[in-house]
Amino acid sequence: MPDDKKVIVALDMMDPVVARDMAKRLSGEVFAFKVGWPLILGSNADIVVDLSRYSKVICDLKLADIPDTNSWVTQKMRENGAWGIIAHAFVGGDSLEAVVKAAGNVKTIAVVAMSHPGSSLFINKKAKELVRVAAGAGAYGIIAPGNDIKMLKKVKKIAVGLKILSPGIGTQGGSASDAIASGADYVIVGRSVCNADDPKNEVKRINAAINTVLAQRNGPAT
Ligand code: XMP
Repeated sequence: MPDDKKVIVALDMMDPVVARDMAKRLSGEVFAFKVGWPLILGSNADIVVDLSRYSKVICDLKLADIPDTNSWVTQKMRENGAWGIIAHAFVGGDSLEAVVKAAGNVKTIAVVAMSHPGSSLFINKKAKELVRVAAGAGAYGIIAPGNDIKMLKKVKKIAVGLKILSPGIGTQGGSASDAIASGADYVIVGRSVCNADDPKNEVKRINAAINTVLAQRNGPAT
């Protein structure tokens, strides 16, 4: 059965108790949870073990180090049960390949373009080259901004065989339906879900909007 959940919720908080509670509430409605530095520093990497009970967990450490160091961090996240790990592609093929190798079955997702205004200064100028670095290293997917549809379409054209995960939805101005219609496979949403009055309902609403786009694209079921 196809997975109709396309929302990855970013648990951007320090407190593991709050994160666990949110994960419990949203479990079953999401494709995965994304945890980053705030939560990992606020608890320790064991939060990945904990949250894996509720859904897949993607560790967003945006690794950008030499191959050996990238490899050690990846191994730790793998031992703790991560489903995916996010690393920067700009550090080059050797550093990203080290992540892919240490990750084994864990999915490596490479950042090729970002969603914040400052990204136009350096990283987004090299997005196409970074997609090639990601593909060459054997990554599972890439991160590309859901609030920059022009960029999303540009990377989609060359990201053959790579899944696209798009942040920048909601608070940063992007729309989940537009991002999916423009090539994203999954959307990453943080604040507009976690700060909503009813986070579960908000995820359901986003999933429904995405499924409308997918139904239009795929035509009626036969
Ligand atoms: P909000 O609250 O804006 O959170 O929905 C978005 C989440 O995604 C992360 N983020 C990014 N990660 N490239 C990335 O790799 C990006 O361009 C990007 N923009 C946002 C952010 O850390 C937060 O967890």
